[in-house]
Order: sequence, then C-alpha cells, then structure tokens
Amino acid sequence: MISRPKALNALNHKLLYELQQIFSELENEKLRALIITGEGKAFIAGADVQEMRGMTPQQARDFALTGQSLFKKIEQFPCPVIAAINGYALGGGMELALSCDIRIADENAKFGQPEVGLGITPGFSGTHRLAKHVGISQAKELIFTAEIINCEKAYEIGLVSRLTSEGMVVEEATKVAKKISNNSKTAVAYSKISIEKSHMQNLDTANLIERDLFGLCFAEEDQKEGMDAFLNKRKPNFK
Ligand code: HXC
Repeated sequence: MISRPKALNALNHKLLYELQQIFSELENEKLRALIITGEGKAFIAGADVQEMRGMTPQQARDFALTGQSLFKKIEQFPCPVIAAINGYALGGGMELALSCDIRIADENAKFGQPEVGLGITPGFSGTHRLAKHVGISQAKELIFTAEIINCEKAYEIGLVSRLTSEGMVVEEATKVAKKISNNSKTAVAYSKISIEKSHMQNLDTANLIERDLFGLCFAEEDQKEGMDAFLNKRKPNFK
C-alpha cells in the first residue's frame, strides 16, 4: 500500500526510493501476483509538486529517470502486478498504474495527466505507456487537455479492465490475483514476458519471441502436470 495520505500519496524522492527497495526485495520472493493500492482517498495524486517546484533541469531529468527506472522494474516484475485504483490516479500516479499489468478501478477513481497545466510534460514514461494502452489519439487528448476522467470513461477507453463499487477494489483485485495463482506460475510469467517483449515488434519478431517461450514451457513440470491433469479429467496441481 502506498502510504502518504496527507499528501494524497504524492511521489517524492523518498517514496520512490522506498518502492525501489521493496520491489528489489520482492523480486526474489516466490510470488504469484502483487497488488498495489493507495491509502486514503487517493491512489497516487502524482509526483510531489512541492518537491519538484525548485528543481533545476538536471535535477528534474534525474527525478524522471528515478521514476522511469522504478516503473520499468514494475513492468518487468516476475509476476503480474495489479493496480487496485481506489481514488485519484493523476500524473505520476497514473503512470505508475500504467506500468502495472492489470488496472482495476473503484467507482471513485479519477484519472488524468495534469502535467501540461503545471508547465511540464509527463516524465515517468506516461507519453509512451499511455499511448500503448489507449492508443495515440486518446493519449494525446488526455495529455494535451489535462482532463480528469472518471472510472466509466477510463473503462470505455480501455485504461482499466474492471470497475468495482466503492471500497471493493482490493477485494476484486484479490479475486483476480487468486484466479492467476490457480494457473502455472511459469506459464503466466512467460506470457507476461511474451506480451511485453512483442508488443512493439512486428509480427515476425513477436512470433519468434512467442514460440521460444512456448517451447520453453515444455521443459517445465507445469506443462506435464497441466496436460496430464486435463487428459485425466482432474484439477492440475501446480507447484
Ligand atoms: C504534492 C499534493 C499533490 C501533489 C495533492 N497534494 N496532490 N502535494 N504533490 N501531486 C497535497 C495538497 O497540496 C494538500 O496538501 C493535500 O495533498 C490534499 O490535497 P487537496 O488539494 O487539499 O485535496 P482535494 O481538494 O481533494 O484535491 C485533490 C486533487 C488535488 C484534485 C487530487 O490535490 C490536485 O489537483 N493535486 C495535484 C494533482 C497533480 O497535478 N498531479 C500531477 C503532478 S505532476 P495540504 O498541505 O494543503 O493539506 C506529475 C509529474 C510526473 O505527476 C512525472 C515526474 C517526472
């Protein structure tokens, strides 16, 4: 849980550093899925404007790099990461959500990239990832207008994949995490790698990545267990 509720969980250097630490430690754990949410009424209301205000161009560039590296770590995390968006997901908060594999929103969630209203661009990979998730046209409109959208609009444009009633978002994310954990951990991890690595490639390169990973599954116990279970009409028991 992102916990800096007095500042609506705004991302400052300290919080980014702590998240780096946590993700580095968790990388070595045998996790099936990870859920990120925010404490209080916000998921994350952006990068910390108070902290950014006096930055020099070089400091701002370094700050962007810190967030970009963290969010890349989240995107490449070995198991699926689910953003349970409980409230405001603005600027850097929306960018963090975009680096997660799955986004689920509470009915109170609000999304937007308000940066241009502050005289800056998005800086934690939002210009790339927002376009990747909702298409260039929607991304440009959201970024250029700095409009804040509600959860229904976010669902309509494909920014989130599920909506929940107030206060139910972590429960719903947990249900999704449980469904994921019933499947082969390796096959889920390989699928994640295949989707991420092939996304921006042409079909031939994407096919190569996919068939290599598909082939690798056949070196794993899970493939034997999954297929044996199906053929013997029983539930698989993945380790
Ligand atoms: C620092 C923030 C903050 C932020 C909120 N707070 N967002 N502090 N950085 N991004 C603080 C407020 O200053 C206030 O502190 C307290 O949290 C509560 O916020 P309020 O504004 O009083 O709450 P409310 O009226 O409910 O309005 C909620 C809000 C608004 C609509 C989310 O806080 C807001 O517009 N926040 C800024 C959103 C934003 O522009 N985000 C993008 C930042 S740029 P006090 O001390 O007064 O109680 C960015 C760039 C990313 O993210 C890339 C970087 C490289």
